[in-house]
Amino acid sequence: MSDENRFPDEQREAVYRVIAERRDVRRGFRADPVPADVLGRVLAAAHQAPSVGFSQPWDFIVITDRARRERIAALARRHAGQYADELPGARARAFDRLKIESILDTPVNVVVSCDRTRGGRHTLGRRTQPKTADFSSVLAVANLWLAARAEGLGVGWVSFFDERELAAELGLPPHLEVIAYLCVGYVTEFAPEPELATAGWARRRPVAWAVHAEQFGRRGLPGEEPVDPLAEVIAAIAPPDATAMAAAAERQDRMTKPRGSLGLLEDVSVRLAGLAGTCPPPLPEPACVAVFAGDHGVHAQGVSPWPQEVTAQMVANFLAGGAVVNAFAAQAGAEVTVVDVGVAAELEPLPGLLPRKIAPGTADFTEGPAMTREQAVAALTVGLEVARDLVAAGNRCLITGDMGIANTTASAALICAFTGADPAEATGRGTGIDAATYARKIDVVCRGLARHRPDPADPVGVLAAFGGFEHAALAGFILGGAALRVPVILDGVIAGAAALAAAALAPAAVGACFAGHRSAEPGHAVTLDHLGLRPLVDLGLRLGEGTGAVLALPLVQSAARALRDVATFDSAGVADKSM
Ligand SMILES: Cc1cc2nc3c(=O)[nH]c(=O)nc-3n(C[C@H](O)[C@H](O)[C@H](O)COP(=O)(O)O)c2cc1C
Repeated sequence: MSDENRFPDEQREAVYRVIAERRDVRRGFRADPVPADVLGRVLAAAHQAPSVGFSQPWDFIVITDRARRERIAALARRHAGQYADELPGARARAFDRLKIESILDTPVNVVVSCDRTRGGRHTLGRRTQPKTADFSSVLAVANLWLAARAEGLGVGWVSFFDERELAAELGLPPHLEVIAYLCVGYVTEFAPEPELATAGWARRRPVAWAVHAEQFGRRGLPGEEPVDPLAEVIAAIAPPDATAMAAAAERQDRMTKPRGSLGLLEDVSVRLAGLAGTCPPPLPEPACVAVFAGDHGVHAQGVSPWPQEVTAQMVANFLAGGAVVNAFAAQAGAEVTVVDVGVAAELEPLPGLLPRKIAPGTADFTEGPAMTREQAVAALTVGLEVARDLVAAGNRCLITGDMGIANTTASAALICAFTGADPAEATGRGTGIDAATYARKIDVVCRGLARHRPDPADPVGVLAAFGGFEHAALAGFILGGAALRVPVILDGVIAGAAALAAAALAPAAVGACFAGHRSAEPGHAVTLDHLGLRPLVDLGLRLGEGTGAVLALPLVQSAARALRDVATFDSAGVADKSM
């Protein structure tokens, strides 16, 4: 029998229970001391953790002294303050409400360290993977955390430290690393869910997203057919909730203002309610702009006055916080994330950069398809996974951004393919080009269309023929947001071209889209008409990066807030118009 070594049911259930009910605890600690025998059992459990080559690299430093804990708490507070200073608006407000350490609220603190040299040079397994020493100490933490839960002890992990500063306070020899700082004590209760989930800071990813069959990307739970993430997301996109929309429209009519006086914002609020399935809808914050960056083979046709290297240089600028989108995002309280889906340069790993390169630039679509179908699907998948991850990280509004020299040419071709528009009507001057370059650009689009004869009923084929990797990824990003019923504010013509692809794959995805602005590019008006979206801002912008969409963020947020906060005639005792 395969289960002869299995624990009896009750014991097995206890194991799963302790795993499910382990919590990171920061509130509700009681002052009662932790008896030595209980702490001893918990530390012995930690000491039974698996370790690389059985090197047992951990040590446990038990701290109870109040003065020492006060000094340590001051170290943590300083770093938490620095972290808070870097957060965008809504995140900073949410962080303010969180409790991130209980150093002084708990009677005992335990530091778990790691000796990466313990066991000498022949420690089995550590030679090729030095990090396995740290992993082993982390497993000791996990054992401690679980055993503590079974004893009714809460544990909170604090990581707001400069590691060497803390090591000095603890008198750690230089060859030891601090792995974890744990605050331990009895608590009044254990929360059923992580506090960060309850506070809306982040969500639990479904286990099905984390399990892959045989190869990365074939997601599926054991016993189930592996799901193709794109097909799964498309299947999950549903039309807006008619009941919530009707409730929102009805509430708008009862709000203390003349009917219809909020113009387009009333429509936005109704659509937000339909998307969320509730009235009033949640405020679309925090918000994150994802700037998808890629290069284009069609650049070789001389369609842009800018050298291709500018794509990579602007990515560096976004990451340094120096671009217009950074300024606008800082003003609007949004986060900026940059996704390399196809920049034709090696990019340094930097905080805020998601390295998801499919290839270093597309091929020239006048000579052949810009990408293979497999690459188009891979880029779509990148986009939808970025959307999922940003929503799991707590964002309630997604904003499209893009960077790619020559991407207005690819956009024009996509717009013609999806809407049937004439290349002369859909092609614009992009960053600003002279008459000769403009004529060449239209000719390039015409030649591309003649060569590929795109079928709008095959959106992946159209993306593969003309798209930039950023177009395909943006289409996936829109689909991902729509499947999670989170609003997606679209920027200009590049996002519009991507939205046409998303709408061709899943028409109901348009329900999640809000047109941030109308770009000066002529193809954008054609696109918005085709999608049936009205732009919120019309300032003659033609920059891209997500700038126009970020400017519309406060409008979308205000539309939701009005529906939530404005009194109704009956509740405020204000007389309604008699007829
Ligand atoms: C490596 C690591 C570092 C952490 N650092 C902190 C921290 O500095 N402050 C904090 O409040 N929680 C910290 N946590 C706790 C996590 O926020 C918590 O585990 C997560 O929200 C999931 O909640 P749960 O542990 O209750 O399931 C840390 C957790 C881990 C694994």
